[in-house]
Amino acid sequence: MPEDLDSLKESAVREIAGAGTREEIEQIEVRWLGRKGEITRLLRAVGSLSPEERPAYGQKVNALKGEIAAALEARREEIASEVGTKTASAIDVTLPGRLIPRAGQHPLRATIEQIKNVFIGLGFEVVESPEVEEYQYNFAALNYPPDHPAMDEQMSFFISDEQLLRTQTTAVQGRVFQERKPPMRICTIGRCYRYEAVDATHGHTFHQVDCFAIDRHITMADLKGTLYQFAREMFGEVTVRFRRDFFPFVEPGADFSVKWEKAGDRWLELGGAGMIHPNVLKMGGIDPEEWSGFAFGLGIERMPMIRHGIGDLRLFYENDARFLAQF
Ligand code: FA5
Repeated sequence: MPEDLDSLKESAVREIAGAGTREEIEQIEVRWLGRKGEITRLLRAVGSLSPEERPAYGQKVNALKGEIAAALEARREEIASEVGTKTASAIDVTLPGRLIPRAGQHPLRATIEQIKNVFIGLGFEVVESPEVEEYQYNFAALNYPPDHPAMDEQMSFFISDEQLLRTQTTAVQGRVFQERKPPMRICTIGRCYRYEAVDATHGHTFHQVDCFAIDRHITMADLKGTLYQFAREMFGEVTVRFRRDFFPFVEPGADFSVKWEKAGDRWLELGGAGMIHPNVLKMGGIDPEEWSGFAFGLGIERMPMIRHGIGDLRLFYENDARFLAQF
């Protein structure tokens, strides 16, 4: 006997209407339309009917299958929109928004920007200069004697006989002399490279800022005033010190240090300075009888180290988010 399809349909529709979640809908679907479900069972039974009964009964079962599938789909959509409504009513629009983590400026980048602004404020023009430098500008134009140890390939990264990774931003001087005539006040900032044993205060890669000013009657007093003003703007009230030092491209030469209470009242050397050597001016086509100039070059890593009490410059290059997030 064929089963009563109408009552089966009724119970399917009742079950579907009573389903409250997507999981329940899925369970009902398996029970009715699954491989071992009611519809499969009904279709199997078609074989036991007389040949006259089979087509009509088969069509009815297939129609029932379609109706159950449609009812399941409709209920599934209803449930989805009910969930949406519940969520919407649960939104508290007065809650403060979640903070999106923001990338910050790298402490070295922030320092470089600040240095630039200080020197622009002191009347310097900031120029670009290449990291892959000619031997000529990095050494020869800076009055290095032919046997100076800095030129040894043990201490510099040479790329060819003529080119190397610059060891100092002072190399910018010769480039600028090719293009300009005094008076001038120039500043350049960038990466330098030295073949060094790396430790807490020395990297093979580090940054420098170099400035020089050439005009009539420039003296050591201009140099000292400029560096003193720079130190005050960077670190606040500090004591500065100049001590005699030697660099082939200045005469006289000095090293420049600051003493800062916050850094434990120690002297911290920032870099070198001096009056541009007459030979350097001459090689640059500038008459040292008419013009004089000062120059200085400072290490940049030292500055945020002093300011934030960072003991090891390698931290700047490791990109550890826990370190960087503090700035
Ligand atoms: C120079 O590089 C000179 N060009 C500075 C100069 C310019 C003197 C103009 C006179 C006139 P020095 O090698 O001392 O000098 O380096 C200057 C500063 O760069 C150092 O005081 C230090 O702060 C920084 N520095 C040098 N080598 C390294 C290094 N390996 N790692 C990190 N910082 C360094």
